[in-house]
Amino acid sequence: MAKNLIIYYSRRGENYFGGSIRNVAKGNTEYCVEFIQKAIGADVFEIETVKEYSKDYTTCTQEAQAEARSGERPALKKYLESVADYDNIFVCGPCWWGTFPCAELGQLERLDWTGRNVFALMTHEGSGLGHCESDLRKICKGANVGRGLAVSGSSAQGSESTVAAWAKKCVG
Ligand SMILES: Cc1cc2nc3c(=O)[nH]c(=O)nc-3n(C[C@H](O)[C@H](O)[C@H](O)COP(=O)(O)O)c2cc1C
Repeated sequence: MAKNLIIYYSRRGENYFGGSIRNVAKGNTEYCVEFIQKAIGADVFEIETVKEYSKDYTTCTQEAQAEARSGERPALKKYLESVADYDNIFVCGPCWWGTFPCAELGQLERLDWTGRNVFALMTHEGSGLGHCESDLRKICKGANVGRGLAVSGSSAQGSESTVAAWAKKCVG
């Protein structure tokens, strides 16, 4: 039986929902991760930075922009050493300035992707998948990058049927 893995980052704290800021205990991407897990079964690896990004929304966007510009790879609390045991790997995260957060990209860059199937799920507020799939193609050398899914962050909580159907198709 195929083995599935989800690698994800999701930020708790202040976020924008339809024009207003709300403080959330669970990030948008985290909902989608749970839906994939429930639909197909998967091990889950969460990206956690040593230095947390600001809970304040505007400050966080500034921190993330500075990182994206300098190509920084913030230290993580723990690293995944290998994905060799997995057939299908779902890389999930928010769109931060057009792609996954630098912390997540840093983890992806440390792995050998030869022969894996990789799928992106990105939550966003308008950018869709941004350029995350072309980034995955560059980073995950030797992997087969399949069709990703963009989920509007504001509707992530209600996206179960869409996410489940997509995940099943990916592994089917
Ligand atoms: C630092 C930062 C940068 C963002 N940049 C973008 C962006 O470039 N395009 C976009 O559509 N949404 C952007 N957003 C909105 C998030 O992608 C969206 O709210 C996402 O669902 C958050 O996921 P999370 O709650 O799992 O962290 C940004 C949000 C933050 C905090």
